[in-house]
Amino acid sequence: MRLLVLAGDGIGPEITAATLAVLRAASDRFRLGLEFAEDVVGHESLKRHGTTIRAEVLAAAKSADGLILGPAAISDFKDEARGEINPSKFFRKSLDLYANIRPARTYPGLPGRVGDFDLVVVRENTEGFYADRNMAAGGGEMLVTPDVAIALRRITRACCERIARAAFALAMARRKRVTIVHKANVLRLSDGLFIEECRKVAREFPEVESNDVLIDAMMAHLVRAPNHFDVIVTTNMFGDILSDLTAELSGSLGLGGSLNAGVDYAMAQAAHGSAPDIAGKNVANPFSLVLSAMLLLAWHGRRTGQKAFGAAAAAIERAVEAAISARETTGDVGGNLGTRETGAALASRLSKA
Ligand code: NAI
Ligand code: MG
Repeated sequence: MRLLVLAGDGIGPEITAATLAVLRAASDRFRLGLEFAEDVVGHESLKRHGTTIRAEVLAAAKSADGLILGPAAISDFKDEARGEINPSKFFRKSLDLYANIRPARTYPGLPGRVGDFDLVVVRENTEGFYADRNMAAGGGEMLVTPDVAIALRRITRACCERIARAAFALAMARRKRVTIVHKANVLRLSDGLFIEECRKVAREFPEVESNDVLIDAMMAHLVRAPNHFDVIVTTNMFGDILSDLTAELSGSLGLGGSLNAGVDYAMAQAAHGSAPDIAGKNVANPFSLVLSAMLLLAWHGRRTGQKAFGAAAAAIERAVEAAISARETTGDVGGNLGTRETGAALASRLSKA
């Protein structure tokens, strides 16, 4: 499996280096033959090449078997005409990575903030309230006068249907429950359409129990009883917001693993951003990106039928569980190791497993 690795900004290089140490150990232990090609995105690319992302990098991503993307300092990138492109958007749109899969669970030895749970947020990733990706040309935001701004939210049946299908298929391999999260009481047409498509797909999965919940109430339900949920399917921005909450409720945003998957490509990317407040201090939790890479290995295993990849993914998750319970972690989840040391400890745990 050939992986293209783009470390990104802020804590990106630190958590990426730790993740690669873990992947090398997994590759040796399970004979995965992982090969890594590294390139740059974000500020480093802007400095070297005058743009945050180059066309060659997209070509390399297309010819690789998977992509690992570190977080980028997206808020710094304002003008695409000056090469300031959001790398995350760039890949999600160019590779049509429509399903953003964000598992969140608690771990033995690390009590979650609101009790134990194990759920997955399935977020639509290619349209919705994202001005930089919901138009074929131009942006989804307009300044009508200096004092009036409009933002468009695009919702299409095709995108709703495919994300619903991803959610129900995933539920079949889990506890067979899907919660459809929306705001159709106000966004009657757009979220109405989203619910309609989810319900159509639900009929194809009679074994899966489903219901729908309003996004605002969902915040309360998640804090009150997160263990009621299995798979949560929602539109782009609601999923973005909701999944930071579920990661933090599980113990830390630094546990937020995430996979961006399409038909032909997949990209491992932590749920969080570049965390400039802790960058360069060797304190960021690398498990978010480790768990994202774990999801990528599992995806590759399912796609190619190579069982070793599924086994390696399962072993990585078990090793993370064991590391958390042994407090071989960064401070956000109760340990006292640095980012580098946490990665090294996990890699050595995996080699011995
Ligand atoms: P953030 O997600 O980077 O950080 C939020 C909080 O969580 C901070 O206190 C941070 O220290 C903490 N945190 C994040 N990752 C952590 C980890 N692995 N271990 C321990 N603590 C962690 O959000 P923020 O600060 O609002 O955004 C920073 C930059 O990242 C902005 O430029 C933003 O636009 C960008 N961003 C990039 C994303 C991406 O590349 N996919 C996603 C979200 C934000
Ligand atoms: Mg986010």
